Amino acid sequence: MKVLVTGSSGLIGSELVTFFDSRAQRVIGIDNNMRIHFFGPEGDTKWNLRRLSQVTRHYRHYDLDIRDRPGLAGLFKSGGPFDLIVHCAAQPSHDLAARRPFEDFDVNAVGTMNLLESTRLHSPEAVFVFMSTNKVYGDAPNELPLKELDQRWDYARTEDGDGITEQMRIDYSKHSLFGASKVAADVMTQEYGRYFGMKTHSLRGSCLTGPHHSAVELHGFLSYLVKIQLVGQTYRIFGYKGKQVRDHIHSFDVARAIEEIYRNPRCGEVYNLGGGRKNSCSILEAFDMVEELTGQKMNYEYVEKPREGDHICYISNIVKLKSHYPCWHVTRSLDDILKEIVHDWKARLKA
Ligand SMILES: NC(=O)c1ccc[n+]([C@@H]2O[C@H](COP(=O)([O-])OP(=O)(O)OC[C@H]3O[C@@H](n4cnc5c(N)ncnc54)[C@H](O)[C@@H]3O)[C@@H](O)[C@H]2O)c1
Repeated sequence: MKVLVTGSSGLIGSELVTFFDSRAQRVIGIDNNMRIHFFGPEGDTKWNLRRLSQVTRHYRHYDLDIRDRPGLAGLFKSGGPFDLIVHCAAQPSHDLAARRPFEDFDVNAVGTMNLLESTRLHSPEAVFVFMSTNKVYGDAPNELPLKELDQRWDYARTEDGDGITEQMRIDYSKHSLFGASKVAADVMTQEYGRYFGMKTHSLRGSCLTGPHHSAVELHGFLSYLVKIQLVGQTYRIFGYKGKQVRDHIHSFDVARAIEEIYRNPRCGEVYNLGGGRKNSCSILEAFDMVEELTGQKMNYEYVEKPREGDHICYISNIVKLKSHYPCWHVTRSLDDILKEIVHDWKARLKA
């Protein structure tokens, strides 16, 4: 089995590298550390690449830009054909996209197109998984009736209790430029499945998390929150009284979902991917959980204006993924996830 992972030094990419290193003959990763260019030194992923070179046996890294079409084609010709391609490289921030619209679109939309086309030409039998986002729904989920509780927003109607399904519309809503460039990539990934019969899948992630994020204010919610708390800095809440809700999924459970898809692929399929209601929390609830784990108080300030197009309450409905892949389930609780992130940040801050 030969696996190609883009964005291999990032949170999800690096989890996939270690996950498949013990299962595949060869794992090839593409990452040009563009995260440092997007977010500055705190976004630097070199530490994670160094870690990968120490803990893997079958991994080969390529410092390649997914916008480099001939470079990608060359790698597919020399390193392929691949059996599994997981595309995680991205400009991942909603807010940054507005400041760098061309870079965002070139990486997220055109970069995905480059990978799909290289796959069609050089690895047409590969299972292709694109890490999409719940932002493809724009702010349409905010139209569901909500109720305000002490610490969180929640869905008012019982029929919405399991969260947002893949039936939520993706247009006629505000996405942020990031969400819109991901829509282009998500729909193109589906199209390569439907039009060319390729085994393509779009996974619409909610909050993906885990210990190996190079977290920054603009991306990497839980990991950033823990880091800020441990170093005693001030966390900024943007709008919705800090009661906005997200569901969280550990990067290991993302890798497990992709393994199941690889074993039983489909064409042009779409899944919401998250930890579901049990793994959901608001910002205020996350503060409480982290305070309990570290014994330190969270300093925060409140900014009245919410982020553009931000979700008020987003919980992934994962019924479709579970019904297509009954061996897959969420193995890491929110509590486990937070304990691991706290433990890992303490070690990283000491180093
Ligand atoms: N983390 C989340 O909460 C979340 C939620 C929903 C969707 N997603 C999606 O999942 C994917 C992975 O997310 P992540 O959290 O691991 O992101 P990440 O930023 O940690 O990893 C992405 C990696 O891609 C690399 N990269 C960026 N542009 C590149 C380019 N042009 N060429 C080569 N490499 C490049 C970066 O250096 C980085 O290491 C992304 O597509 C993201 O949009 C993430």
